[in-house]
Amino acid sequence: MRIRLIGIGPGGPDDLTVAAVRALDSVDVIVVADKNRGVDDLVALREEILERHAPGRHRVVVVPDPPRDRDPASYTMAVQDWHAARAEKYESVLRTEIRDGESVGFLVWGDPSLYDSTIRVVEDIRARGVLHVDHDVIPGVSSVQMLAARHRLVLNRIGGSVTVTTGRRLLDDAAAGHDDLVVMLDGKLTCRELTGDWDIWWGANLGTGDEQLVAGRLAEVLPEIEKARSRAKNARGWVMDVYLLRRVEAS
Ligand SMILES: C[S@@+](CC[C@H](N)C(=O)[O-])C[C@H]1O[C@@H](n2cnc3c(N)ncnc32)[C@H](O)[C@@H]1O
Repeated sequence: MRIRLIGIGPGGPDDLTVAAVRALDSVDVIVVADKNRGVDDLVALREEILERHAPGRHRVVVVPDPPRDRDPASYTMAVQDWHAARAEKYESVLRTEIRDGESVGFLVWGDPSLYDSTIRVVEDIRARGVLHVDHDVIPGVSSVQMLAARHRLVLNRIGGSVTVTTGRRLLDDAAAGHDDLVVMLDGKLTCRELTGDWDIWWGANLGTGDEQLVAGRLAEVLPEIEKARSRAKNARGWVMDVYLLRRVEAS
């Protein structure tokens, strides 16, 4: 079975690549993970993307996400169990819903290489050996690239490195001496707990009509970020944010 993992960008229907649009056009069935937990707007954004770029072309199959332990003793093991459950669910949907000879596109938010489990799920399905799967990956614009573009930023300092991390790991990474950090998956605005001087470039709901941007010295702009976060949430019923932190060099 041919499976194409298609990066669709971080939400805006204009932010797909030409290759992604062609890939949408090349498959018979679209598979979408239902992990939106009742956030209709995120479903609507995906529908808008399909409607804009491949109207009426597909059968869409929604795969409900298995429940996940949000407060586990071991985060890594909980995620591994959840991936196994997802692989099983996807495999059963592919076996029962896809006809012989049909090709399948998985819509992946942003780019499949960053904090997304779809590639691992497809590898798990292949490893189970029940379905013969041939897959490829079409890159998408990630929320990180969109953040950099909106703020007209280069993420690294000249010749420097950048750490891409999560809210969960931020304080440890900063304590370990990382000076330039891109933070994703941070529902709690963990940068509030940082000590020292930092500059921040922050963005929420990028690519949508309600995106929010704030930049400046962290301690000064935090109240503005908190307000902008609420505005994004009120406008769309969800908020996803990503930010670059840069430690201010002692002068
Ligand atoms: C599960 S990860 C998926 C990342 C995705 N694969 C990518 O390339 O952007 C979700 C995180 O990506 C970031 N994110 C995704 N879409 C976003 C958007 N439209 N605006 C801001 N951040 C976004 C947030 O940090 C969110 O917590």
